[in-house]
Amino acid sequence: MIIVVGSYNVDVILKVNKIPEIGETVIADELYITHGGKGSNQAVSASRLGSHVKIIVAVGDDKHGTDAIEFWKSENIDVSKVKVKSGINTGTAYIFVDKKGRNIIVVNRGANYYLSEDDLNNSLEGDILLMQLEIRESVVKKAAKEFNGIKILNPAPANLKDTEILSLVDIITPNEIEFKELVNTDDFEYGLNLLLKKVKKAVIVTLGERGALLATRDGKKVLIPAPKVNVIDETGAGDVFNAALSVYLEKGYDLETAVEYANKVAALSVTKIGALGPKLDEVVRFLEEIDKA
Ligand code: RIB
Repeated sequence: MIIVVGSYNVDVILKVNKIPEIGETVIADELYITHGGKGSNQAVSASRLGSHVKIIVAVGDDKHGTDAIEFWKSENIDVSKVKVKSGINTGTAYIFVDKKGRNIIVVNRGANYYLSEDDLNNSLEGDILLMQLEIRESVVKKAAKEFNGIKILNPAPANLKDTEILSLVDIITPNEIEFKELVNTDDFEYGLNLLLKKVKKAVIVTLGERGALLATRDGKKVLIPAPKVNVIDETGAGDVFNAALSVYLEKGYDLETAVEYANKVAALSVTKIGALGPKLDEVVRFLEEIDKA
């Protein structure tokens, strides 16, 4: 089983020709309101790829929270540890996506901020623990301390204050911006070695259309390419990557094979609007297509 400890947001997505500068007003081409939040996206994507998933997340006692729970049920996710926080709004995210599929995101954490350490009690039994940083670090730290399987931290957004958390996780999966923020240097190699010394097993830096760099503490360093696709919306590509990685690690594949798979599923995910990952049959078709090409 994959346990996801993380966030849920209602995503308000605006497709724009150009992301506005400070002080600039632009007109949106399209508006989408959909399920999001890095924790939820990762849980949904892992479930769609065939794993059993339990989500540990907080929502508000509003309609968005009720809708989120119904949505997870319809996606075959175990909702027994979802916490409904009374008098609090469900998290929301405001996302601008430009014509190249690039985005900027502002998250209003709402109920995500109120997920507490106690909310983790008697819930951390599983094979893989997947965490992000849209909830309190103290909760992430407790989960990482108490879980007895493979622990993956997707350090997004990259504002980690308690760096002790790094020593508790097996694998960390920053994108380039998050990586820079974590290591605080422009020297990639130096930063990579620094980060590698802090985690238990591996650093995977996701590099968008260039794929992902896998570096392990036992000396492996390999750039694993991603298939070329027509990018519509990059939002959630990192979430889909982490989900697919977890699914393959849970199945017992080695890290390199899991990253190859995650690159492919994440590439497929950016060909559509929104942060939710593709269904398994779409992935199977896509893998067949790229194998033929
Ligand atoms: O990673 C994409 C996600 O970041 C969005 O769904 C948004 O809710 C923010 O959490």
